[in-house]
Amino acid sequence: MKIRFLILILIVVCCMVFSQDKQEYFPQNDLMKIGAYYYPEHWDESQWERDLQKMAGLGLEFTHMGEFAWPFMEPEEGQYTFEWLDRAISLAAENGLKVILCTPTPCPPAWLAEKYPEIFYQDINYRPREHGSRGNYSTSSDLFREYTRKIVSQLAKRYGHDDRVWGWQLDNEPGAPRDYSPLAQEKFREWLRTKYKTIDALNDAWGNRFWGVVYNNFEQIRIPLPGILYGLSPHARLDYYRFNADQMAAFLDFQTDILREFISDKQWITTNYISTMTGADPRRTTKLDFVAYTMYPVGGGANLGENGFRIGWQDGIAFANDFYRSINGVTGVMELQPGQVNWGRINPVPEPGAVRMWLWHAFAGGCSFACTYRYRQPLYGSEQYHYGIVGTDGVSPSPGGLEYSQVSKEIAQLRKLYDPKAVFPAEYKARKTAILWSHDNYWDIDIQKRTSEWSTWDHVFKYMEILKSFGAPVDWIAEDSDFSQYPFLIVPAYQLIDKQLVNKWRKYAEQGGNLIVTCRTGHKDRYGHLFEAKWAEPIYELIGAKIEFYDLLLNNTKGLINMDGRDYNWHVWGEILEPDKGTISLAEYANQFYAGKSAAVSRDLGKGTVTYIGVHTDDGDLEKDILRKICTNAGLSIHNYPRGVYVEWRDGFWVAVNYSSQSHELDIPGNTKILFGGKNLPSPGVTVWMEK
Ligand code: GAL
Repeated sequence: MKIRFLILILIVVCCMVFSQDKQEYFPQNDLMKIGAYYYPEHWDESQWERDLQKMAGLGLEFTHMGEFAWPFMEPEEGQYTFEWLDRAISLAAENGLKVILCTPTPCPPAWLAEKYPEIFYQDINYRPREHGSRGNYSTSSDLFREYTRKIVSQLAKRYGHDDRVWGWQLDNEPGAPRDYSPLAQEKFREWLRTKYKTIDALNDAWGNRFWGVVYNNFEQIRIPLPGILYGLSPHARLDYYRFNADQMAAFLDFQTDILREFISDKQWITTNYISTMTGADPRRTTKLDFVAYTMYPVGGGANLGENGFRIGWQDGIAFANDFYRSINGVTGVMELQPGQVNWGRINPVPEPGAVRMWLWHAFAGGCSFACTYRYRQPLYGSEQYHYGIVGTDGVSPSPGGLEYSQVSKEIAQLRKLYDPKAVFPAEYKARKTAILWSHDNYWDIDIQKRTSEWSTWDHVFKYMEILKSFGAPVDWIAEDSDFSQYPFLIVPAYQLIDKQLVNKWRKYAEQGGNLIVTCRTGHKDRYGHLFEAKWAEPIYELIGAKIEFYDLLLNNTKGLINMDGRDYNWHVWGEILEPDKGTISLAEYANQFYAGKSAAVSRDLGKGTVTYIGVHTDDGDLEKDILRKICTNAGLSIHNYPRGVYVEWRDGFWVAVNYSSQSHELDIPGNTKILFGGKNLPSPGVTVWMEK
């Protein structure tokens, strides 16, 4: 009895310690802190105090330094000069600004490049990168790692117990550029040896009998060169993408280990992935405390409606919040543009109010912080046309800068109303949906798209948008996640499968889940081979249907589908299904030689349901109508927000934002108090309310 009691106490204490750690990083009642990048090394030291004072005066609460400053930290090999950084950190702290400190690895200094030009990665033409830019090193260079170890340990020793330093960002937008250097070739072989053990196993996995590619030993293997060599093994390419992402992750984990050796556990470690990252895989980095993202919603894209090019990319923040938060419950936006950028094909001015809306959107999706790149507009260098919180004179706030300042003040007001006891509204929770995602699927589909009309992002965003229009909270989960906490699980274009995964899906449905599987699922095994069975046969039993074949139309061909008397158009991807007995056909093709055959099916399985949507329609309306049916059958009440209108709940506050180019009348219940905005939600615009 006594022992049990002691164990219980121990568990309670462990839980408290764990939650305290999380609390220390980002206390819940802070909601979201707002900050800006500052590059002391770009400005005369006499201006630092003025700048940091002004930053704080605008309501910002933290700053971010150092990710490109290696030559200022170590101007000559082994000579460390951190005094300038000490002064900058002191000035930040004197003005009440916390500091995010970065490891400077994106920019190896000139002396290092001169001494060891082999640290750079090589592109597909075997052309080495060189000094003069950033993000040019090879993740496969042991030598570069050694220099990384030195600079990162110096930084960690100096600032690892400095309370003014809030946390650490590793590198910058680690993108895992495809590296074809001799170093990468060697590491790739090592990676393959570990994976396959024997060359025969590799030959089988890569299908090397085809065109007689067969290798005699691992030494003969070269990294596949798509675009240069015709018809490369897709399995070899998939492995190379996996390897390259693993190398990036290993480099980040290597840096994390160095920091951890020296820093206090009050400081956190993260990095800032580009939101829709495809080279690196944020989930392969396992040692970070959480993962942050970067976001530039206005960069020359047309986006939604007439004003979308100024209002911003509607899917961007919506996806990034949910994707990065789902990794371990915490995220933040590390870079969010304050105004015009320098790198777009065309660089429009954001619509007044858009910057404020993005910040509120980041808040709504759970960000613990939002940081802007950058405080001052640079006067020189390749980003001299990039807006900042202040303009070229260094003191006048830009229009976007004023919006950052406004949101900082609004968040301060919100903190006073924060109620730690606020609970996730039951009706909202009932709609909680997970989307299953894996980079491996993305890569494998991308290697052989089968139609230039296909985009995996378009496909998954279509489903995400439908869920958002229903007012459903969305998580992006992985195969090893617990599916059972989600009443709805969407498995979009999940091409690579095995028996175990199909069983996990089956169990999920049997136990009461609503499983929605979409086209391009289950075609291949984990190596990317087709099954020696009927087309996608391993999922037939699960979906209660056979897939006879799939068709792809030209972009001007109008494929027709009919459901409940309504017509829908498609051309990108259509699978022709044959439902088993007991499976309902939801929609049928209405033209082409297979008119009358099924395009989507549904069945009950145990206590749950399985729906298979075999087609990707032009506007997503069919998919939306099918999902609506599933929700209605499950007795759910759902919304019908227009595209680009997002309504989310966080910490007791409802937040609505609008990217649609048109105003929207919100249906806000009577027992609530509107804090910002009104029932009429302009575009761009924000309405925030809470229960009374
Ligand atoms: C980001 C990058 C920043 C800066 C910014 C300009 O992708 O991480 O360092 O270059 O773009 O918009």
